[in-house]
Amino acid sequence: MTAEYFTYEGVLFPCMNFSSETLSYMENEFQVQDNDIFNITYPKSGTTWMLEILSLIRCEGDPGWVRSVPNWERAPWVESQSGLEAALKYPPPRLLTSHLPVQLFPKSLQRSKAKIIYTLRSPKDVLVSLYHFSYIMHIFKSPSSMDTFLEDFLSGNVPYSSWFDHVTGWMGLRGNENFFSITYEELQQDLSGSVRRICRFLGKELSEEQLAAVVENASFQSMKGNKMSNFSQMSDEYMDHQKGELMRKGICGDWRNHLSEVQSQRFDTVYQERMQRLGVTFPWD
Ligand code: A3P
Repeated sequence: MTAEYFTYEGVLFPCMNFSSETLSYMENEFQVQDNDIFNITYPKSGTTWMLEILSLIRCEGDPGWVRSVPNWERAPWVESQSGLEAALKYPPPRLLTSHLPVQLFPKSLQRSKAKIIYTLRSPKDVLVSLYHFSYIMHIFKSPSSMDTFLEDFLSGNVPYSSWFDHVTGWMGLRGNENFFSITYEELQQDLSGSVRRICRFLGKELSEEQLAAVVENASFQSMKGNKMSNFSQMSDEYMDHQKGELMRKGICGDWRNHLSEVQSQRFDTVYQERMQRLGVTFPWD
């Protein structure tokens, strides 16, 4: 089976489980609710990690929900066909996930008080994580080599298109009181402090004991062993479980093991060109 992509308003999407109709509905008709919480990322930036953290915060550290309900039901990926169906049936308050770039996000966001949590990750690590994941997921095309995949990533010829556009687009919302951004690297460095900051943004108070339970249950090891969080229950139609797993390494800086000096420099050149105007310094800069 070869994966196919299509373009919607200049952004690339997999054909499987996505359609122009659903994306148009999302953009123009989907009603964002004031008490929605959106977990937004460019793919491979820590989506499932943040999903787990938000699920655990909602349950005040009690792992019952994350151990009994698959993550794609706890916070559906709204722009996919199956995710949209789940979102429309979700009793409020909804926890929703999306990889949509800001310009394709539901227009109704502008009139709502919904909270957006945007998680970013070092783009070289995103590239490496996506490279491996693309061999496992049937909805993505398998890369032919790191050289070609690198060029595809830099030019936005990958699902959800350009990392640079995604990040500069969403980070344009910083300063908005309903927008909060955090990096995968900050989660790695200080998960407890990060969870405190997320709770403050959400207006959720947790005891020290509840906070410790969130941190423990959102660790890489806990999630890797939790079949409701590690994608091991995802149907074979979508994922080739023989080829690898979602919870691959879970570290910062793995790109050093996969990119040559030349590839890394090529990346840096494009990164500098594309990111200098944003005026934000990230942990990987
Ligand atoms: P690697 O492929 O580098 O291991 P996403 O959820 O956006 O698809 O991102 C998946 C990446 O996040 C994978 O990275 C996965 O290992 C990592 N990840 C998921 N949960 C994590 C956790 N609790 N701690 C650290 N990394 C985690």
